[in-house]
Amino acid sequence: MAKSTMNMNPSLSIYDNLGGEEVLRKLVEAFYPRVQAHPLLAPLFPEDIYPVMEKQFMFLSQFFGGPSLFSDEYGHPMMRARHLPFPITPERAEAWLSCMQAALEEIGIDDPLKTFIVQRLSGPANHFVNTQF
Ligand code: HEM
Repeated sequence: MAKSTMNMNPSLSIYDNLGGEEVLRKLVEAFYPRVQAHPLLAPLFPEDIYPVMEKQFMFLSQFFGGPSLFSDEYGHPMMRARHLPFPITPERAEAWLSCMQAALEEIGIDDPLKTFIVQRLSGPANHFVNTQF
């Protein structure tokens, strides 16, 4: 059977479809070097990206239906509010999603799971847009 027909079980969470903690860590590790290399995104992020990576790992764990690591440690995520200090344009939201798509491809996540994940993240990404410029 082709991998693409095997890699998504709609009755499981995204977290379990990905393969749990280990694969989620690989995803975050593939994602942030792309963010840091992107001309629109890099200026928003600190040089020491490790703390951001760790928080993103904890957040995506719960967002994808796995253990609620972020809320257990930091309380209610309030993600839009946490992004308000940063000028997030529509172009930056698209750039963030394209880095995520490329990171999924890099770690070998194929469609339909890849597209499902990017669509799932496009809701919050667009919701975090807080300026047009
Ligand atoms: C729309 C484009 C986005 C941009 C430009 C963006 C940018 C940023 C920036 C600049 C930070 C703070 C880095 C720092 O600590 O200095 C951050 C933190 C974070 N972002 Fe985003 N982000 C975007 C979308 C998302 C999405 C879609 C999610 C998850 C669904 C997300 C989850 C997080 C998390 C969990 C943190 C850490 C929050 C914390 O410090 O408590 N971001 N983001």
